[in-house]
Amino acid sequence: MTAELDVKEMSESNLMMERNLALELVRVTEAAALAASNWVGRGDKEAADAAAVAAMRETFGTLHMQGRVVIGEGERDEAPMLYIGEEVGDGKGPKIDIALDPLEGTTPTAKGGNNSLAVVAMTDEGGFLNAPDTYMQKIAVGPGVDANILDLDAPIEDVVKKLAKEKGGRPEDLTVCILDRPRHDEIMAGVRKAGARINLIQDGDVSAVIATTDPDTGIDLYVGTGGAPEGVLAAAALQCTGGAMLGRLVFRNDDEKARAEKWGITDLDKIYQTGDLAKGDNVMFAATGVTDGSMLRGVRRFAGGAKTSSLVMRSKSGTIRRIEATHDFTRKTWLKSI
Ligand code: FBP
Repeated sequence: MTAELDVKEMSESNLMMERNLALELVRVTEAAALAASNWVGRGDKEAADAAAVAAMRETFGTLHMQGRVVIGEGERDEAPMLYIGEEVGDGKGPKIDIALDPLEGTTPTAKGGNNSLAVVAMTDEGGFLNAPDTYMQKIAVGPGVDANILDLDAPIEDVVKKLAKEKGGRPEDLTVCILDRPRHDEIMAGVRKAGARINLIQDGDVSAVIATTDPDTGIDLYVGTGGAPEGVLAAAALQCTGGAMLGRLVFRNDDEKARAEKWGITDLDKIYQTGDLAKGDNVMFAATGVTDGSMLRGVRRFAGGAKTSSLVMRSKSGTIRRIEATHDFTRKTWLKSI
């Protein structure tokens, strides 16, 4: 066999492996969502999170890869499982970096609210920003819009007006999604002044950013400050769906600045573009709804089983799959942690 053929065969098998991994990823988010769904509305967000983490970690063990958690449940001394730096997978196969949130939206899960997800993104080694567990200012739009209209420093009225022009309509035709927090009062006033409508959400800004990419959600723009790790996950999704975001870390104290510096961040005021948060070449993304949201239906439970709704996407192909699955808990294939 010639060297040329060897390389061709190798890259074909890598491609196969990546495709398979992307589909396997949905098992991981399904397991976490099913485990968390036991806790919906039970008022205990820690227990819901712990159940999702245990199920996600157990399922990762079945994946053929040398995975390393980059965005995880916290630092090693504060998170027993899926901590930053933990190695997951069967220890063979490709080297993969992982950004995860087994339960994005602990509060809505505990309260039976909206928009909680189990979410994982993967890419080649070094492809995700090592985002510290701080806040991040974010602004995001879906595909087909000139990303240059995004601006974290301009008055939001100006961005809304530019977006309306880009979309060939009026600000009144747009809906802007914002987390319902007092820190966003000024943004809300600006959006209203421009004439656009607002969709206020209680939690779940990963889901909100992804919603800008799907015209069926009716959401045109996401803006506001939320978690920085969630910013990386949202950027990973945008690399698959198209669309763009900007992010800037927000520090409340010196301890948070020190955390960022520990992860190698030297320019604390940097404005990150989508590709700085998640490099676009080989991103895989999967999410399963825990509770109902703008993008995904939550877990439906019934005697002996459950139904899940998931999204799986790859940046290389741009394919977006929706997977509706029915799970039979009476069979013996089920995980210990569900
Ligand atoms: P958790 O799953 O950690 O509870 O995060 C939910 C969430 O709503 C995120 O989607 C969002 O980025 C962040 O919290 C906003 O933070 P805060 O609740 O402190 O305003």
